Amino acid sequence: MDIKKVAVIGSGLMGSGIAYVSAWNGYEVTMVDINQELVDKGLESIRNSVMTGIDKGKMSITEAEGLMGRVKGIVDTEDAVKDADLVIEAIFENMEVKKEVFAKIDAAAPEHAILASNTSSLSIDELATATNRPDKFIGMHYFSPVPAMKLLEIVVGEKTSEDTIAVAKAVGEKQGKQTVLAKNSPGFIVNRLLMPGMREALLIYERGEATKEEIDNAMVSVGKAAMGPFALGDFVGLDIAFNAMSTLYREIGDCFKPPDTLKNLVDSGAIGMKSKKGFYDYGAEPSEPEKPKGADPNWIADRILIAGVREAMILVDDGIANKEDINMAMKLGAAWPAGPFETAENYGMDKIREHISNLEKEFGECYSVPKMLK
Ligand code: NAI
Repeated sequence: MDIKKVAVIGSGLMGSGIAYVSAWNGYEVTMVDINQELVDKGLESIRNSVMTGIDKGKMSITEAEGLMGRVKGIVDTEDAVKDADLVIEAIFENMEVKKEVFAKIDAAAPEHAILASNTSSLSIDELATATNRPDKFIGMHYFSPVPAMKLLEIVVGEKTSEDTIAVAKAVGEKQGKQTVLAKNSPGFIVNRLLMPGMREALLIYERGEATKEEIDNAMVSVGKAAMGPFALGDFVGLDIAFNAMSTLYREIGDCFKPPDTLKNLVDSGAIGMKSKKGFYDYGAEPSEPEKPKGADPNWIADRILIAGVREAMILVDDGIANKEDINMAMKLGAAWPAGPFETAENYGMDKIREHISNLEKEFGECYSVPKMLK
């Protein structure tokens, strides 16, 4: 199907970004929010992205005018979707609110239109039940900031048709994104694979095996990460990390239980840089580093990296995504210097198997050996 008109529901951070990459790549876009002020804010944010494009020499004035001419902002959802070929929803992350809006969209959109959600944590299958077209329902999970981030996770529901997948992929590619496919499942690819390493870092710290500084330094020097897990958590926001981990805990089980250190910080309002305190202090007087435990940086990096490799293997074992897509997703969506299967190859499968088996003997089933290694 040839997509010409895209309706974007929600003009916030993600919606305005999706509207921008759509219009920049030739689609006619109608963007909606609940009142004119919010629509105008979304349009302003698109204008700012356009100005950045011009400043960086990526866009001519004529191209910028063309782009802005292709974006309309309105407050009436039914009106916005009535002649859309594709509707992308990016409103608040709330199942009931999203279902209500999808029922409304389903009733007003043309029969051929594909409906997509940018949800980062809700089930695509459950959202699809609000519509009468589950075959034409799909997840299109963009990353923030949308104009800059190259990844689009396409989340395939149980009833999503092959044609719908093909359209989502074609649209994503036209928007300049690298697309990866994930079956509908908690956390999809990126948010799920980010958690085991973060959790492992916290458990190593809680057991007194290494300090936060030792763990962060090891992941930068040996793991080649841009930031260690504690510094990254503070940067992203511990509330966000905690919510993501709690969702997986609820939906997958105890092996994703947020460690107490994280929960206690969030409960006390210490949610990272934005509150000037998280794992580290960012106030006027930064806290003194802890006395080093003398942990081996290679040992630390192995533990954290292989936690991510193990989870990636489970995704493949469970048929959620393939190795190539997982490698791509983690490099583009989480800035991992190597995909988990590239890391696995560097270690060698025998070493990975031995490492995980030893942990399983010591700590039990949360370190069980993935089927792929048996
Ligand atoms: P946001 O709060 O910036 O924007 C949401 C917008 O939706 C608001 O402007 C709100 O007024 C509007 N809205 C709410 N109900 C509406 C309705 N019935 N009709 C029209 N507009 C409505 O939120 P953000 O960050 O853009 O997130 C939106 C969605 O994208 C969420 O599902 C979130 O989980 C997902 N997401 C967010 C990412 C992020 O980094 N912020 C990354 C990937 C996905």
